[in-house]
Amino acid sequence: MRLILLGAPGAGKGTQAAFICQKYGIPQISTGDMLRAAVKAGTPLGLEAKKVMDAGGLVSDGLIIDLVKDRIAQPDCANGFLFDGFPRTIPQAEAMRQAGVRIDYVLEIDVPFDAIIERMSGRRVHPASGRTYHVKFNPPKVDGVDDVTGEPLIQRDDDKEETVRKRLDVYAAQTRPLVDYYSGWAKQDPATAPKYRVISGLGTVEEITQRVFAALAD
Ligand code: AP5
Ligand code: ZN
Repeated sequence: MRLILLGAPGAGKGTQAAFICQKYGIPQISTGDMLRAAVKAGTPLGLEAKKVMDAGGLVSDGLIIDLVKDRIAQPDCANGFLFDGFPRTIPQAEAMRQAGVRIDYVLEIDVPFDAIIERMSGRRVHPASGRTYHVKFNPPKVDGVDDVTGEPLIQRDDDKEETVRKRLDVYAAQTRPLVDYYSGWAKQDPATAPKYRVISGLGTVEEITQRVFAALAD
């Protein structure tokens, strides 16, 4: 199974990715998690990415495409993978198509923008694993602590309300056009295009997981 999870910042891509990857036995490739790991490690990529991420912008297509090509060449991707937060621009999607990377499904999680601000302000993450919680909607068993490792949870630097609004603008301008890109491709050339599915991301985490699994079975 090779799939792309598409959706606005805070739509629940990372949350649902964990369930999908467990069910299909595939790795989660989150370019956001990879960039945050590079920032933490202080690599040249991380140093370049940090400023852009903190401002809510997008890291350059060239850097991201190289990062993803290296990642999918690794042995654990032989049976498939899940892209979370990639592709995020038309050039990123085109680069995958030109490299002949076949995708089975593009699954869009649709959440209205007003619900997103509340989700982001309560988000807490375990940086080492990328596990995601919410203080109200999806709390950890013990306040402020990761369920699996017992390590502290943090708030992401880009979850300030002002930065979230900027990220939503960037999504509307640069990532939302991928909806037309993939649906147009499916019309032109259904033999090579991924299947395009849209589900509502409103409801409990469990309800959305059920919708995701139903969409991927169809
Ligand atoms: P990235 O890490 O990809 O962030 P994003 O796309 O903005 O998405 P998020 O991680 O914020 O949201 P999510 O959809 O995963 O939601 P989550 O499950 O956490 O990218 C960060 C930055 O890196 C970008 O701004 C950019 O600078 C750079 N970058 C990354 N990829 C790039 C690329 N390809 N090209 C260029 N630049 C790139 O859920 C959110 C919250 O809601 C959580 O607290 C969760 O617990 C809660 N929640 C989840 N589901 C529900 C529910 N059903 N009900 C209530 N709350 C819920
Ligand atoms: Zn995420």
